[in-house]
Amino acid sequence: MKKKLVILTGAGMSAESGLRTFRDADGLWENYPVMDVASADGFARNPALVHKFYNDRRRQLIDALPNAGHIALADLERQFDVYVITQNVDDLHERAGSSHVLHLHGELMKVRAIDDPDLTFTLTPPDLSTTPSTLIDGHRVRPHIVFFQEAVPMIEPAIEIASEADVFVVIGTSLAVYPAASLLYYVRPSVPIFYIDPNPASVPEGVTVIREPATKGVATLRHILLSALDS
Ligand code: OAD
Repeated sequence: MKKKLVILTGAGMSAESGLRTFRDADGLWENYPVMDVASADGFARNPALVHKFYNDRRRQLIDALPNAGHIALADLERQFDVYVITQNVDDLHERAGSSHVLHLHGELMKVRAIDDPDLTFTLTPPDLSTTPSTLIDGHRVRPHIVFFQEAVPMIEPAIEIASEADVFVVIGTSLAVYPAASLLYYVRPSVPIFYIDPNPASVPEGVTVIREPATKGVATLRHILLSALDS
């Protein structure tokens, strides 16, 4: 039976695809006030601004491509049962071919009905823009994104996946946002944990830090994991 390889990714995973991270120098939160564009209060105050912010993100995403890191993670499905838990709202893991991708913070290409949170719609080019007055099937819509001040409904299944990991890998996240960052603490004690990030946050003792960007770091990880399978 294949071992379960669980990967938690953040914005750094997609940085080499040209998508900006949030908290690095020149990151998104340096250029946009986070509580205006990504919080429940901000959306209530100025929904047009929030729609515009995510319309811009969508336009960037359709021009972006999965990088070698996304592709190598999908490729590891040949040797492992790979589960990706991502904080990213982009679809680059899916486009790279990963089969199991859980989005903790929502999905950029989806919107949902304001009056029925279970009703989601996938936007398709060229119609990637929404405004406060957009109607889809008669519903006003909002980004299918978890705003600050909102619950993270996918955390329960994510905890279950993390607690079943045989190997756990964290890639490209500042581990600043909870509950996503807490997933590390649900990994069983004897399970090896790797953390790929050129500028890693502090992590518990015992975590193997690979201080490299995602493309190079996933190649390093792949080498370590495949050597361990052979031995
Ligand atoms: P951050 O912007 O907080 O952190 C990005 C991380 O990526 C940092 O640790 C960088 O060192 C690292 N990094 C930069 N370039 C990299 C590269 N080429 N390869 C690998 N790592 C690289 O982004 P997140 O931790 O993902 O939520 O942020 C978490 C959440 O905060 C996001 O999902 C978003 C944001 O607010 C929502 O909007 C709901």
